Amino acid sequence: MCAARAGGDSTITMQTVSFTLNGKPVAAMVGPVDSLRDVLREKLHVYSVKAGCGQGGCGSCTVLVSGDPIVSCLMPARVAEGLEIITLEGIGTPAQLHPLQQAFYDNFAAQCGFCTAGMITVAKALLDRNARRSWRRSPGTSAAARATCPSSALCRMRRPA
Ligand code: FES
Repeated sequence: MCAARAGGDSTITMQTVSFTLNGKPVAAMVGPVDSLRDVLREKLHVYSVKAGCGQGGCGSCTVLVSGDPIVSCLMPARVAEGLEIITLEGIGTPAQLHPLQQAFYDNFAAQCGFCTAGMITVAKALLDRNARRSWRRSPGTSAAARATCPSSALCRMRRPA
């Protein structure tokens, strides 16, 4: 931890946060209000994590934190210490797409592409938790639920009722 002057009389305390990013150990200096999204993009150069609304509403910055889908714009980077973070880059690669990525590609589901990483990340978490279920076969799933984007993203994707 270190203290650095940031203009005027205010002092900002910086600290090193270390975590696992897509299977590799990483570390970054972060301030007390730096979001995980901004650290991933600006310090670790992970650009699949999009800077959208910054308010937790669009889902385009979603990452997996120890398996849970989290909107990284609302997560302080300093609390990532010791956690496992997975972004789209950790789900598949251009040479070896994850089946979800392949399905998005095959079905032209990317739309404009801005929030696609968030949609795939949330879909992966959903499928990991419900490995034996499918949205279409689940008898308790209402038409309204099927029509709602799983990432709650700004999404125009609709499933057949
Ligand atoms: S940028 Fe994080 S939810 Fe929109």
